[in-house]
Amino acid sequence: MTKSTRWVSSFGKAPFQLNQHLPVIRLVTPLTEERGIELWVLRLDQTDSVVSGNKWFKLKYNLLQARESGRSAVLSFGGAYSNHIHALARAGFLMGIQTIGVIRGEPEYANNPTLQDAIEWGMKLQFVDRKTYRRRHDTDYQELLSKTFDDPVIIPEGGSNSLAIKGCAEILSDELLSRIQPDQIVLPCGTGGTLAGLCVANPELNILGIPVLKGADFLYQDIRNLIQDAGMEDSDNWQLDLEGHYGGYAKADSSLIAFIQQMNSLHHLPLEQVYTGKMLMRLMERIDAGLYPEGSSILALHTGGLQGTRSLEY
Ligand SMILES: Cc1ncc(COP(=O)(O)O)c(C=O)c1O
Repeated sequence: MTKSTRWVSSFGKAPFQLNQHLPVIRLVTPLTEERGIELWVLRLDQTDSVVSGNKWFKLKYNLLQARESGRSAVLSFGGAYSNHIHALARAGFLMGIQTIGVIRGEPEYANNPTLQDAIEWGMKLQFVDRKTYRRRHDTDYQELLSKTFDDPVIIPEGGSNSLAIKGCAEILSDELLSRIQPDQIVLPCGTGGTLAGLCVANPELNILGIPVLKGADFLYQDIRNLIQDAGMEDSDNWQLDLEGHYGGYAKADSSLIAFIQQMNSLHHLPLEQVYTGKMLMRLMERIDAGLYPEGSSILALHTGGLQGTRSLEY
């Protein structure tokens, strides 16, 4: 069963406008049936064929503002398979904005499919070692990058800043919420920026983030800081489930891979191993553990990132 909300982008002359409906699907499995749970998945991965998922919303105001500012370029940071770097490169290409990616790792990574795409879309890449990469938030390092690359707009790793919060605040439409009336919204967390945007826009909702990093307690403070930096109120309407990392960031064991394959073959739901696969697997465990009363309605967000599945083959 497919219902629709909002509009999918064509990313043409008017980038970051949604022009067609985004689907929300009802996921019915033996477990959801047995527990009497209504589980919905909002397919944010279908915002655009490349600039997809939460990236579409996180980049929206960052790139529109960068274009208006007339600055030379946009620079950001990421790992070798970063969805953020990939989406930024594509959006910059389509909007005629020069992009620069500071990548953690060796120059050989430039051969991987994610960075090959970025290069094709005109992104300049600078590879840095782990020690240098750790300085990505430091003012002196950012000043050095500004000098080197002619004063670009600098967007943090994962794209999480105040403008990203503003974009993510637009993810859930009133129409969707009144139709589904979710008891809980569930999404994967990396930096927590997407969750922060959802929380400030929907203080009445109960929002659960599932961090994909091990030992992600630091996110409680990071998310509060993101909300505060955006000049918004924290309504304390969110929680984190720290058990959904399955070994740590980008670690994928055989049970996770089997779950992803099953979701794809039985439910035609494509997931990837870093964010959405872990989020949905953990959500199923929570349902199985009886954490949701019968009759609950849960809305899970498919935050995209499907380009990252190529890292499994590479
Ligand atoms: C596909 C996908 N889902 C979720 C996230 C996590 O988003 P956030 O960093 O805003 O928590 C990311 C990374 O940003 C991502 O690439």
